[in-house]
Amino acid sequence: MLRTHTCGELRIGDVNKQVTLTGWVQRLRDKGSLLWIDLRDRYGITQLFLEEGKTDALLLQTARQLGREFVVKVDGIAVERLSKNDKMPTGDIEIKISSLEIVNASKTPPFTIEDNTDGGDELRMKYRYLDLRRNPVRESLQLRHKMAQQTRIYLDSLDFIEVETPVLIKSTPEGARDFVVPSRMNPGEFYALPQSPQTFKQLLMVSGFDRYYQLVKCFRDEDLRADRQPEFTQIDCEMAFITQEDILSTFEGLIRHLFKNVKGIDMPTVPHLSYADAMKYYGSDKPDTRFEMKFVELNEVVKGKAFPVFDNAAIVLGICAKGCASFTRKQLDELTEFVRKPQIGATGLIYARCEANGKLKSSVDKFFDEEALSKWTLKFNAQPGDLILILAGPTEKTQKALGELRLHIANQLGLRDKNKFSALWVIDFPLLEWNEETKRFHAMHHPFTSPKLDDLQLLDSDPGKVRANAYDMVINGTEVGGGSIRIHDRPTQQLMFTKLGFSEEEAKKQFGFLMDAFEFGAPPHGGIAFGFDRLCSLFGGADSIRDFIAFPKNNSGRDLMIDTPSTISQEQLNELNIIVKN
Ligand code: AMO
Repeated sequence: MLRTHTCGELRIGDVNKQVTLTGWVQRLRDKGSLLWIDLRDRYGITQLFLEEGKTDALLLQTARQLGREFVVKVDGIAVERLSKNDKMPTGDIEIKISSLEIVNASKTPPFTIEDNTDGGDELRMKYRYLDLRRNPVRESLQLRHKMAQQTRIYLDSLDFIEVETPVLIKSTPEGARDFVVPSRMNPGEFYALPQSPQTFKQLLMVSGFDRYYQLVKCFRDEDLRADRQPEFTQIDCEMAFITQEDILSTFEGLIRHLFKNVKGIDMPTVPHLSYADAMKYYGSDKPDTRFEMKFVELNEVVKGKAFPVFDNAAIVLGICAKGCASFTRKQLDELTEFVRKPQIGATGLIYARCEANGKLKSSVDKFFDEEALSKWTLKFNAQPGDLILILAGPTEKTQKALGELRLHIANQLGLRDKNKFSALWVIDFPLLEWNEETKRFHAMHHPFTSPKLDDLQLLDSDPGKVRANAYDMVINGTEVGGGSIRIHDRPTQQLMFTKLGFSEEEAKKQFGFLMDAFEFGAPPHGGIAFGFDRLCSLFGGADSIRDFIAFPKNNSGRDLMIDTPSTISQEQLNELNIIVKN
């Protein structure tokens, strides 16, 4: 080792020790007679000092040549500080240095390498290796490491086996586009990068592996957002001879193990909520349950009062915002503007304040007298000081819009505390989802998901109503994982492909290997995959998954540091039989 200690290690008990430290110069303060250097490494910062008259003149001269991010090696003695810094773990001591070696110089970094940096996103991405020197980013990756380690400890304790599956595969339809890789040896043919190892983990169940997991890279060519990257990591799992309840309890166990061992939090039991109820009460299949504000349906108390907005609506739906009756006209106008935004899509917002006497004062008093309004009060259990917000319109659209309004208000009220965690299982998802663009049903989870036996008779008459043995884990309004109990026999899998519009031939071409395997003793099986990056960012209290990925891509899918995607040479193109259109 070039050093005796790290920069985060020395304490008052180390005073008088002769030490050698290595690291990066975080800061230099030259007060003329005294010169301080903050030396940083992954473990912390230690203060070094030199004194005019007492330190060797040559040494002082060398020290004065240092700049930010120079790499140095120093020898010195640990001494007690006169003015201690209780904000730093090493703040009781400093190093009086006796020799200093500049191991490597550094150009002035393009942004300050401190917790609060002056660097913008793009710049930090271009110089990611410098950004990674900053504490918050490094801590995020350390958290990720701990999460991965604890995941392995938990799954290993339950006899799960980690198996690697291939990266050059064939397309699996999971909703997103594939990234493809041309095959030089097979002109005109392509591999696809896995969107997930779905079919392979099912095949491992056919092979009798029984309990599989993998921390695995997945690739999806989709529009990117704060919680989506083109390459991301899953904790991918599969089990055989299990029921849905077994899966839910095993992986609820994983989440509780992670909360306990990474954050020291005892998570309560995770409640189950059906997809239908999630839509009914929260207008979302991933409700944020850190706070209540459940939807209340008002149809029976508002219809037939000659108010056309309500009379013509399929659904009249409201929420009660506790203590918000004091919202000003301007605040209410802002809420109305919010729900009218095209991406929210409501036509207007109706509100009612619950006054000190417990009576409602609404924006539609013309149509609703005191008695009619008292029914609203009862429905919402509104208390003096509360604000009722109501939307009306087509059912699904209104549910979704009110769901957005619910989150918007909760943000304003500070109800979405990043240090509070609320998990739930959303279960009984629909099997199929109508797609307006393609004018056909698509699998809501994926085509290998089994339908609920009770609903099978609806497959022909009302396919949209068939529920699946599919579940998502939602934490704080983020879908952190999803899975299902799979189909494990050829006829049902073939039927599913037919319902999804595959011809027998197409199904055989794409998934013949899986259906063939189902004919060689496939056990009943099911599984789940967690979005590992999402889980890490949630644990780290961040909105974006980027800082939990060492080298992420930007929102256009570019790595700004290595500058990719990029063109390749004509020679490479020729070899791959690719003609690029200009
Ligand atoms: P699914 O498609 O729901 O299921 O993915 C599982 C979880 O992966 C995360 N995730 C992402 N995270 C970051 N960036 C992305 N682009 C991205 N896309 C998805 C989400 C999601 O819940 N094979 C099935 C699982 C199974 O059935 O067992 C699958 O991949 O947190």
